[in-house]
Amino acid sequence: MKIVLGVSGGIAAYKAALLLRLFTESGHDVTVVPTAAALHFVGAPTWEALSGKPVASDVWSRVEQVPHVRLGKEADLVVVAPATADLLARAANGLADDLLTNVLLTARCPVVYAPAMHTEMWEHPATQANVETLIERGAHVIPPASGRLTGADTGPGRLPEPEDIFAVCRRLLAEHPHPSPTAHRDHPASTAAPVDPATPAAASEPAPAGRDDYSGWRVVVTAGGTREPLDPVRFLGNRSSGKQGYALAARAAARGALVRLISANVSLPVPPDVQVAHVETAQQLQAAVREDAGWADLIIMAAAVADYRPAAYAESKMKKTHEPGQEHAAPTITLVRNPDILAGLVAERGAAAHPVIVGFAAETGEPGKSVLELGQEKLARKGCDLLVVNEVGVDVTFGRDENTVHILRRDGQPQVDVGPAGKEVIADAVLDVARRVLT
Ligand code: C5P
Repeated sequence: MKIVLGVSGGIAAYKAALLLRLFTESGHDVTVVPTAAALHFVGAPTWEALSGKPVASDVWSRVEQVPHVRLGKEADLVVVAPATADLLARAANGLADDLLTNVLLTARCPVVYAPAMHTEMWEHPATQANVETLIERGAHVIPPASGRLTGADTGPGRLPEPEDIFAVCRRLLAEHPHPSPTAHRDHPASTAAPVDPATPAAASEPAPAGRDDYSGWRVVVTAGGTREPLDPVRFLGNRSSGKQGYALAARAAARGALVRLISANVSLPVPPDVQVAHVETAQQLQAAVREDAGWADLIIMAAAVADYRPAAYAESKMKKTHEPGQEHAAPTITLVRNPDILAGLVAERGAAAHPVIVGFAAETGEPGKSVLELGQEKLARKGCDLLVVNEVGVDVTFGRDENTVHILRRDGQPQVDVGPAGKEVIADAVLDVARRVLT
């Protein structure tokens, strides 16, 4: 496929060299179009050596080939990484004062921007308005990651990792194998306009195929149920099948998210475009979630995590005693508390609004307290942004394909009730509500 890699003038330009390698190593034909400012950070020889092609920033080189029109028209995908505030402003206003902005005006294929800049510049209303304009016109904008910026400062504004940008591009290339004049206008705005408050009916509608409102957002989903080993052959576990968590991961990926799935003892096929890490115990699940927490924009804790684990693990299989007089003896298993992973994530996030954290509560109800009342209490106790409450019992929910849930919001917005419905529909409803909280 023909890729144009636009590079604008930010310190993160060096990471674009890694992105270029990912494209060329997977067989794509890449033309690099740096802006003049980008060449202050990484020079033309680097781009020429890595792409095997000459590089120009202005429209006055090899004019007989009309590169300012040809490159954009022939491209299967244009990706600008890093996209600076200035480049986004020029693109949003349709300027054509260098080769890259000409390419952006002539391209009819998917166009991806990976912004990188200081937090203040990213959050400035001018930049946000430019991003919204580009999204409304069909561009894909990968939200910048949070973390260390050029100096000692931290915050949203980092260029996403080259592998993450590459994953978004690969998905778009698979969805749009041939450029068409309207291909990049198919998708609705993503970070743009505020959405109507959720209504149960709207939330339970299945998402139309091709919806792209999670494009570039980083989503971590935990799924399944932890197992806490007693000895090499026995464990304490629960009835979670992992179906709801897998449906969440599948739908988030289908809606454009970069998805990491942390899977605890699930025997389901891994959904397409989802990276999976397998864990067994609550402690392993905690370590995996912590590793991904800094990467994530949204964490959905759908896994059923054991609250307790055996205090001791027997290295060899625990045997019945055959001592005379001891035939009825049974061992006592002492349990210790597992960490509350969800509450720990909320505590570590502190006052920040990022990442958005979603918990699940499987409730059976108890005398004098409804499932919903228990859910409200749990939402307050855990401090997560959303709590998805469902009623469980031996035959209700676990392993079933249909589910009924209530999605409670910490910000006081009305709850959303969904179901009975398939787990994919529930997943879309949860993602719809979470998308409104993500900014
Ligand atoms: O307290 P309860 O187990 O009902 O809370 C359920 C929610 O908390 C789920 O989102 C589950 O993934 C999470 N959880 C956790 N760590 C635990 C127990 C539950 O993160 N030890």
